[in-house]
Amino acid sequence: MRFVEFILVFLEISKRQMTSENMRAAQFELGGPEKLFIGKVPIPSLREKEVLIRVVATAVNRVDLLQRMGNYPVPPGASDILGLEVAGVVEKLGPGCTSGWTPGDNVMALLAGGGYAEFVASHEDHIMPVPKDLSFEEAASIPEAWLTSYQLLHKIGQIQEEETVLIHAGASGVGLAAVQLARLANATVFVTAGSEEKIKKAVELGAKVGFNYKQEDFSEKILQITEGRGVNVILDCVGASYWEKNVKSIAVDGRWILFGLLGGSEVNGDLLKQLLAKRVRLEGTTLRSRSVQVLITCLFLMFLWEISLHLEK
Ligand SMILES: NC(=O)c1ccc[n+]([C@@H]2O[C@H](COP(=O)([O-])OP(=O)(O)OC[C@H]3O[C@@H](n4cnc5c(N)ncnc54)[C@H](OP(=O)(O)O)[C@@H]3O)[C@@H](O)[C@H]2O)c1
Repeated sequence: MRFVEFILVFLEISKRQMTSENMRAAQFELGGPEKLFIGKVPIPSLREKEVLIRVVATAVNRVDLLQRMGNYPVPPGASDILGLEVAGVVEKLGPGCTSGWTPGDNVMALLAGGGYAEFVASHEDHIMPVPKDLSFEEAASIPEAWLTSYQLLHKIGQIQEEETVLIHAGASGVGLAAVQLARLANATVFVTAGSEEKIKKAVELGAKVGFNYKQEDFSEKILQITEGRGVNVILDCVGASYWEKNVKSIAVDGRWILFGLLGGSEVNGDLLKQLLAKRVRLEGTTLRSRSVQVLITCLFLMFLWEISLHLEK
């Protein structure tokens, strides 16, 4: 399983009965983790094709931290409660559900928000069964990081066997999922990370080699290892501070997938000229803004078909 900074919000709910229309949820004022507190909010009412999940475990993603600090606007229509993924038990079905879920099913769900609560409503198509033998805690770490990585690598990056991929923030939640998925696809994986410990973890999980971006120029190393060819795919959640090294590191006809801006968004220089010269495809993506789109349903089906079975122990 992936290594992830994982704070479990375990709400003792499996033993509790629903006694009112209110539930407990983690709420916050803008700031650090000390600004989190447990409050009472209404249990979500179910819209067409939504399922109510009794939450057993949820996970912490970078976006939760950004949102808590006031640096990430909640997409229109999404819950303002934190939490992008949960594992739990189906409590009840809303009107028009046809996907075959029944109360008592153990499920994991990708959410546009709302996971840090006793109950959450999810579209019936954004739920997957908990893979055999996985705990709720393990399952809660899968939807956001693994579906993001699956989308980046396969749907957008179109990674092929024996291609090379450079994964930035290679020991992040998304990064470690991507390392494992890339190995499963028989690609050669390189990572960047900020410490030897993080690189070691990524290598244990399938990366061929990692570069400490605080101590070395990863583009020089990539060019040495690939004998000047560069990598076929870059998964980039860093953005501006890496752009020149990314352009050097990528191969002709490479795919550069931008999915975060940890290193800023302002670029000065001849990026376009260099992209053109190498015929590079640069594509940006955010999973959260797709959360209520049909596209994500396709992503779920493909992930279930191709990957979920590998997650069983
Ligand atoms: N577009 C999407 O659909 C989507 C979905 C999910 C996540 N994301 C993005 O993916 C990224 C990772 O998310 P996560 O939840 O997996 O994160 P995470 O587990 O919190 O890890 C983030 C890591 O990024 C590295 N980092 C931070 N600032 C950096 C910088 N300026 N330059 C280089 N590395 C830096 C740090 O590791 P080091 O110690 O190695 O520096 C940090 O631990 C975030 O940017 C998030 O917003 C995007």
